[in-house]
Amino acid sequence: MQEYRLVALPGEGVGPEVVEAALAVLAHLATLHGFSVRVTHGLVGEPAVQQFGTGFPEATARLCEGADGILFGAVSKAGLLELRKQFDLFANLRPVRPVKSLRHRSSIKPEKLDGVDILFVRELVSGIYFGPSGRGVDETAPYGFHTMQYADSEIRRIARVALQQAQQRRKKLAIAHKENALPCLPWTRLVQEEAAAFPDVALVPMLVDNLAMQLVMNPQQFDVILAGNLFGDILSDIGGAIAGSIGLLGSASLNADGFGLYEAIHGTAPDIAGKGIANPMGTLASVELMLRQWDEGTAAAHLAIAQEQLLEAGYRTADLVDSPEDRFVNTKAFTEQLIQQLTNSKANQ
Ligand code: IPM
Ligand code: MN
Repeated sequence: MQEYRLVALPGEGVGPEVVEAALAVLAHLATLHGFSVRVTHGLVGEPAVQQFGTGFPEATARLCEGADGILFGAVSKAGLLELRKQFDLFANLRPVRPVKSLRHRSSIKPEKLDGVDILFVRELVSGIYFGPSGRGVDETAPYGFHTMQYADSEIRRIARVALQQAQQRRKKLAIAHKENALPCLPWTRLVQEEAAAFPDVALVPMLVDNLAMQLVMNPQQFDVILAGNLFGDILSDIGGAIAGSIGLLGSASLNADGFGLYEAIHGTAPDIAGKGIANPMGTLASVELMLRQWDEGTAAAHLAIAQEQLLEAGYRTADLVDSPEDRFVNTKAFTEQLIQQLTNSKANQ
């Protein structure tokens, strides 16, 4: 039997709640589909700061080495950027595919949601998050700076990931850039050069401000969207508005070897943390991406379908409740329902 070694890093806020839920579902899927997952827990974010004085301690790094994946909860900041950098997780994939039963939750008009299926490919270990930065020390003229810096090679390697993804999908790649104001970062030219090896992929360079507007006005035009670190962060949150809740979206952050960290794109949600009502679907969407990366595609599809069936049956976590017919469930009840649904749908196969 195939055994995977998974490191769980629950982090802070709602992180531990959604990771616990996702691990229970994953364990069940493993039983149903004949693989096993050995899980080790590690500290990241605030709990790690409290114990080790740093958000991403050495012990956690050691734990992750040689694992088959990292399931990540949420942190407000501490440790996450270091973790991404340490394992060179440069390719961040964030799919957005609104489900039918949650259409009315979307900020987009229902008729503009038909067929919307977008994949954000965000560069994750460079750009302004990691460029030279500082603050002036002269109190009479305080200033600060962060520098948006990209090596051409860094743009080229994320471009190849986006091109590959586009080639396997609808063969259309939008490139988010800001070359009218930031001409030293020639995303369009570099992506065009890499695209020589992908002649069937259509490139659509777009100024990032226009792209943000287009995402809201007509999301149907997009297939894959390639963006640098900061633009990708901002644009992919619009994906949350399109899907109906940021709590629904997951992500995979991969390095060149295909090793990955899987996390919901939402944050720690301090307002609801500890209440047991967080939506685990963002983390489950990340589990789905992890299963695909592990070549457990049948289990991944099973998970996706079972969740859609629960939504169709009216089950809603707090972030999605809006009508009296909705069957409100907390995190635990949702997880139990999902496990039940997985069993039933497997038995009916
Ligand atoms: C995300 C988050 C992080 C980011 C924060 C927590 C640093 O917003 O993963 O989208 O900006 O990358
Ligand atoms: Mn973000």
